[in-house]
Amino acid sequence: MIKEVDIKNKVSEIGARINDEYRDKKPVLIGVLKGAFMFLADLLREIEIPVEVDFLSIHSYDGTESSGVVRITHDLSLNIEARHVILVEDIIDTGRTVNYILENLRTRRPESLAVCSLLNKESRRVVDVPLAYVGFTIPSAFVVGYGLDYSNRYRNLKYIGVLDDK
Ligand code: IMP
Ligand code: MG
Repeated sequence: MIKEVDIKNKVSEIGARINDEYRDKKPVLIGVLKGAFMFLADLLREIEIPVEVDFLSIHSYDGTESSGVVRITHDLSLNIEARHVILVEDIIDTGRTVNYILENLRTRRPESLAVCSLLNKESRRVVDVPLAYVGFTIPSAFVVGYGLDYSNRYRNLKYIGVLDDK
């Protein structure tokens, strides 16, 4: 669905915007594991302003359909109070997962909280989520690669592909 070169160009575009919009703000990028690790790693290399990185790990109780019932299995190590936070996600589908994470992070009183997602399945949205940075808006197919998995496989692909039912 999305070629390696197109991902690369988009990531550098988003990085340039963050360099511009977060100058002097020393943002904290928070990657949501595992799916966002590759996007975050590439995005970080495009960032030329002072920046910090942290991760949180979540477990959602679902198969392919998100229930929004999410548990944080590994929390941040940084204190984000009064910090400018950018939450980095691989994909927003129904919006339930990121909505849960945002509600949780807001209780820690960051100065600002923005969402940056590589992929956006807009037509599937159930919960409205403000997205500051979006790489690609895609149709509702199940996609894998570039960090995204199906049963923990295919994360290693350099491109985004549509999972074949067979
Ligand atoms: P949401 O809560 O429905 O927005 O689902 C978001 C989470 O579901 C993402 O963080 C992914 O882990 C997973 N997800 C949703 N769609 C896909 C897909 O097409 N491929 C791989 N994972 C997906
Ligand atoms: Mg995931």
